[in-house]
Amino acid sequence: MAIAASAQNKLPTSRLKGILERLGRHTESSAKKRGACCEMLGRARTGFVILTATTVVFCYFVLQHTQVLHLQQRRCHIQERNKSLQSGTCNNTVVETTTETKRGTRDCCTNCDMYVGVRPSCITRNFTGPWCQVIRQKRGYAKVKVDLASRSLEMLEKLHGADLDPGGLYRPRDCTSSQRVGIIVPFRERSLHLKVFLNNIHPFLKKQRIEYMIIVVEQAPGSRLNRGMLRNIGVIEGEKLCKFDCYFFHDVDMIPLSNLNIYTCGSKPRHHAAALARWNYVLPYQHIFGGVVSFTTELFKKVNGYSNMYFGWGGEDDDLYNRVRYHNMDIERYPMKISRYGDLKHHKSVAQNSRYSYLKTWKARVEVDGLNSLKYNRHLVEFRKLYTWIYVGINEQEVLISI
Ligand code: BGC
Repeated sequence: MAIAASAQNKLPTSRLKGILERLGRHTESSAKKRGACCEMLGRARTGFVILTATTVVFCYFVLQHTQVLHLQQRRCHIQERNKSLQSGTCNNTVVETTTETKRGTRDCCTNCDMYVGVRPSCITRNFTGPWCQVIRQKRGYAKVKVDLASRSLEMLEKLHGADLDPGGLYRPRDCTSSQRVGIIVPFRERSLHLKVFLNNIHPFLKKQRIEYMIIVVEQAPGSRLNRGMLRNIGVIEGEKLCKFDCYFFHDVDMIPLSNLNIYTCGSKPRHHAAALARWNYVLPYQHIFGGVVSFTTELFKKVNGYSNMYFGWGGEDDDLYNRVRYHNMDIERYPMKISRYGDLKHHKSVAQNSRYSYLKTWKARVEVDGLNSLKYNRHLVEFRKLYTWIYVGINEQEVLISI
């Protein structure tokens, strides 16, 4: 039965051929299909790569654009802030100014750094011409013409402001200065003197081809005047603005009378205002060291600046002299003829007797009382046309108990 069935199951050769042909065709078509499929896959892969690349490029441009927008916004914000700061309408810090300056309130924007006006750019100096001291030596020196006329600030700005950078910064145009000098003027309630001072000091320094900035440091009402501290503050704040090589500490009522009294620093601290009419042009005592003195920044830091303890009139300059001697330095002076100053008249402040007790203990405080222990509130730094104005608050009690 089984044999009969297998005989029955035997396919005729023709049918077998047919099947084989069909099978062959099927294999061929599935190979074709497989090829097409691979081709599609390949195309899809290329498409995917192109799509990914496009997406990456697109995202990159979007990011870039956002960044540019962000930067533009920031720039706008800064410009706006500067504009409003200049016009005095920028909001947030309330500053009461004294009658000596503009009375009123001034606000600042959020995060305002309390700098008002265009910041002067104290670019690094490159040697671009002859050294200023060479030009200075070649020029003859006339006596200084003092102008005691009382002029408005606007008038003074017209007279002296044209070639100044903001903040009363001056750079000689025809020579390179070897030093940048910060002229620090401690100030309170002497607006008439300040105007006479500015009217005389700008032409004097320009004529000498000094690269300089006038920095007026004003103490807000509330505690007794501390001139030593104001001078220290002038240096600390001055260093944040420009890198000065040399500092002059200048009373506002002192007008130099000789063009040979050069306003650059020497290798020793220098006492400039040695010959005053009020002392008949002789030194009242040998180690007097007030009125106008100059130090290189390095030397001033070395002696730790002025003591901060002298509130009220007198003593801080004698203390500074002791510091100089303590560091084995001498002071120097120009000849008395050159050290002449016109001293503007004013009501003499009441001398503080407490200065004598501080002068007895100066040595114990040299290292801990001075530039390195300053405590003050910086209310405002304003870059005015003829000078940089730094307005500060000092808490006398806080200072006195801290040392
Ligand atoms: C004061 C100094 C002052 C000098 C000249 C001294 O008694 O202590 O501060 O510079 O007199 O007026």
